[in-house]
Order: sequence, then C-alpha cells, then structure tokens
Amino acid sequence: MPEKNADHLDLPSRPRRNRRTAAIRGLVRETVLDPSHLIYPLFVQDGRSEPIDAMPGQVRWSLDDLCKEVERAYGLGINAVVLFPKVPGEKKTETGEHAFDPDGLAQRAIRAVKQSAPGICVITDVALDPYNCDGHDGIVSATGEVLNDETIGVLCRQAASHAEAGADIVAPSDMMDGRVGAIRSAMDSAGHTNTGIMSYTAKYASAFYGPFRGALDSAPRPSGAKPIPEDKSTYQMDPANAREALHELGLDVEEGADIVMVKPAGPYLDVIHRLRQATDLPIAAYQVSGEYVMIKSAAARGGLDEKALVLETLTGIRRAGADMVLTYFAPQIAEWLG
Ligand code: PBG
Repeated sequence: MPEKNADHLDLPSRPRRNRRTAAIRGLVRETVLDPSHLIYPLFVQDGRSEPIDAMPGQVRWSLDDLCKEVERAYGLGINAVVLFPKVPGEKKTETGEHAFDPDGLAQRAIRAVKQSAPGICVITDVALDPYNCDGHDGIVSATGEVLNDETIGVLCRQAASHAEAGADIVAPSDMMDGRVGAIRSAMDSAGHTNTGIMSYTAKYASAFYGPFRGALDSAPRPSGAKPIPEDKSTYQMDPANAREALHELGLDVEEGADIVMVKPAGPYLDVIHRLRQATDLPIAAYQVSGEYVMIKSAAARGGLDEKALVLETLTGIRRAGADMVLTYFAPQIAEWLG
C-alpha cells in the first residue's frame, strides 16, 4: 500500500492525468481514424437500384446511382471503393467467362466510376463466385473439386480486363494457390505494371459472409449433376489457424502483393496483429457483411449506440495494425468524423 499523506495517496504514477481533458486525451491518442483510411464496398447491378434485404441500409446500385453514390462518398473524404457486381443468373456459367468480358458489368462499372470521379481509387474483386453457376470462387470439376490451376487462368484474364478498364488495384479474394504471382505477370505482360494487387492473404472460411452472399446471390449451390462442395473450406482458411496466415503472407510477399488483407476483421484482430509484426507492407482488414449486420441489428434492437459501436470496432481494427479498413459504414464514418 502506498503511504498515505494527509490529503492524497503518494502514487508514483497517475495514468488518469493523461485522461483528464479532451485536449490531453487528443495528445496521447495512439490510434486515429480518418476517412482516408477507409475503403467503401459497393454493389452494382444492371437495371434499377434496389435495397439489399440481407444488409439493411445497403443498396445494389444501378450504374448511374453507383456513380452518384461514389461521388457523394468522395465528397465526404472517402478516396477508395471496391466494386461487387451482381451478375444475372443467365450470365453465370461453370467456368465464369463473363468475368473477363470487356463489356461485363464489372468492367462497365469501373469505367463509369473512373469517369465520374477520376480521383477515386477503384479496387475490384477478383474471384469467380458472382460469375460461376456453382457459386464457388473457382471452377468446380466433374468430381466436385475446386480446381486451382485451371481457375488461375481465368482469374488472370479477369484481373487483366479490370486493369484494362481502369481499375487502380485488383483484389484477388479467391484464395487459390499462386494466384498473386500469376496475376502480377499476366497484368505486367498486358502492360499494366502500374495496377496494384491487394491480396486477400488471410481470408477465412467464415459464417460472417452470409449477408454478402445474399446480396449477390452467390452462395455455393447445386447446379446440374456434379457434386458441389457446400462450403469454401478447401480454399478459404480454417478459423482455427493463425500461423498459417503467416505462411500465406510469405507467399503473397514473394509473389508481389502490394497490400495484404485479413478478412473478416473483428474476430481476427490477433491475425492482423501477427501480420503487422511480420511485414512492413500495408495491411488492409475487411469488416465484412456479417459484422455490419451484427452492429446494425444490435443497434436497431436498442440499448447499443450504433455510432459508438462502429467507431470503437474501427478503432480496434486500426489499433490491431490495419492501415486501411474496408467497411460498409465508410461514408457514415466520414460524416461522423466531420
Ligand atoms: C467473394 C467475396 C466474398 C466476400 C468478398 N469477396 C464472399 C465469399 O468469399 O464467399 C465477402 C464480403 C462480405 O461478407 O462483406 N470472393
């Protein structure tokens, strides 16, 4: 017990001194949130805009409305977006050719956004699930195997076509082995040496993607006679593993990734932290659809304050070591931060 003087304890340190006023708290704050750290994921479809039932407050935008929403977000200080096309059922095939159609929805969306907000960083998702009638990120063989090397050929064409359409960064979310290196060389040979790669380095086979798959109608599903794996656990990572994320990191660095990502974010803060210790590359974290819906539902139920929850989760993700965060709350956060 410290010695007690007449009117105070004789404490060597009083951490509360640094919390006494807002000005002092500002001086000692270790983690800051700024709209420039945020990436806004947006859904797009042909036809009219529609609210997404599975994700209250999110919309599948028509091309025109997408551009308006991007301009609005840009005006609030959001400098980067990632685009997710909802492809109609009749365009989906077993090998996802629509993924590299120069007039495909993604390619048209990239061009439209770049034209309406040239300063914005356009990031695209590279994977086959929106284009594949089986709902998997890769091609499914006749015996129900998600094929690695055959898939990579399609991903390379997809990435090169996104680059051609004007994407600043492509983000392979498919988790095939060797895709980062293959995409790097495919884009380089097509002359797109300036297009970056944000790799989904540690993407877990997570239940938190449910609302996203609802938004894009992209959940794995039976089609025709072949057996279709029910989940993505032969390519996305086991939620139980963290060391394995470091192995994936090593490969992505070697293969030329510019930015590495951990996904989901909130339940995987330890993984973000481990990557932070292991690399000097920028780290992205994706606060995914299920994390978004959890916060929205909790706030709607009452008793929890949405703004405070969002800012706290984002601060936690940044504190764990993420340089940038993909979040559906991006424009809302920018508004709150003023
Ligand atoms: C597709 C992809 C997914 C997400 C981003 N890209 C879903 C999946 O892997 O099944 C999820 C994003 C979210 O849940 O917000 N490759």
